[in-house]
Order: sequence, then C-alpha cells, then structure tokens
Amino acid sequence: MPNSHLHELFTDELRDVLGAERQLLKGLKKMADSASGEELKSAFQEHYSQSEEHINRLKEAFSSIGLSFRSKKCKAMEGLLAEGEEIMDSFEPGKVLDAALVAAAQKIEHYEIASYGCLVTWAKLMEHQEAADLLSQTLEEEKQTDGKLTEIAMSQANVSTE
Ligand SMILES: [Fe+2]
Ligand SMILES: [Fe+2]
Repeated sequence: MPNSHLHELFTDELRDVLGAERQLLKGLKKMADSASGEELKSAFQEHYSQSEEHINRLKEAFSSIGLSFRSKKCKAMEGLLAEGEEIMDSFEPGKVLDAALVAAAQKIEHYEIASYGCLVTWAKLMEHQEAADLLSQTLEEEKQTDGKLTEIAMSQANVSTE
C-alpha cells in the first residue's frame, strides 16, 4: 500500500470521528428540543438521521480496510457540545437561542468537515478507494448541512421581523 506511514494516523482519526458522531447524536436530540423555529428543529432532526447513516458508512469504511469497528472519545466534540449546553442554559427559547444554536451547530459541522476532509485525503493517498468514496459522501452531507444552517440563519434565526 502506498503511503503506509499514514496508516496509524488514519486509523486513529477514523476512531475519533466515529466517537464524535456517536457523541453528536445525543447533542442533536437536545438541540432539536431547544430550537423554536420549525425549520431549524427539522434541520436538526434530519441531521440526526444523517449522522446515523454516517456511523453506518464508517462501519463499512472500517471493514473495507479490515479494521475493527472501534471508537474513541472525541475531546473536541465533547468541548463543542459542552459549549452548546452552556448556550442552551443561557438563553430562553426563541430567536436568539435559535441564532446561538445555529452558530454552535456550524462550529460542529466545520469540525466534522475538517475531519472528513483529512480522512478522504489520507484514504486516497493510501489507495483505500472504497473508504475514500464512503467518506466523501459523508463530507458532502456535512457541507450541505452547513449550507442549510446558513440559509436558516439568514432567512429566520438572525433576522428581526419586528
Ligand atoms: Fe456526520
Ligand atoms: Fe454533522
């Protein structure tokens, strides 16, 4: 395999992102419950289902290269979710909380985009084509979610209608 020096790093990052996705499932549930805007609520619910699919794809990616399906705790996601909790405790439900939830969710998406972006690059460099394809699909969905959050922010959460 070419660039085999990346193998350990790739494996470690794959386990980290699996941990991140699992931790995020709990966070998204709380975020959906705290959102007031219907569109934002359903965006969180939709991303919950997508994240379950991301975990399935990771399972396939692990097995495509003969690795055991194991996660590790993602400290970055833990911190991002802790900030999200802080926000939910600081604001009453309504527009401002929704704007804050969009911001918290976009920080999470950007973290995931960076992680999957690196994983796709490393998978390609090691010629793990199947894993690269699976991880690219998830990367695209994370980007779409980020874009959708921007739309919601610009059309609703961040805009005053008074
Ligand atoms: Fe994801
Ligand atoms: Fe995500």
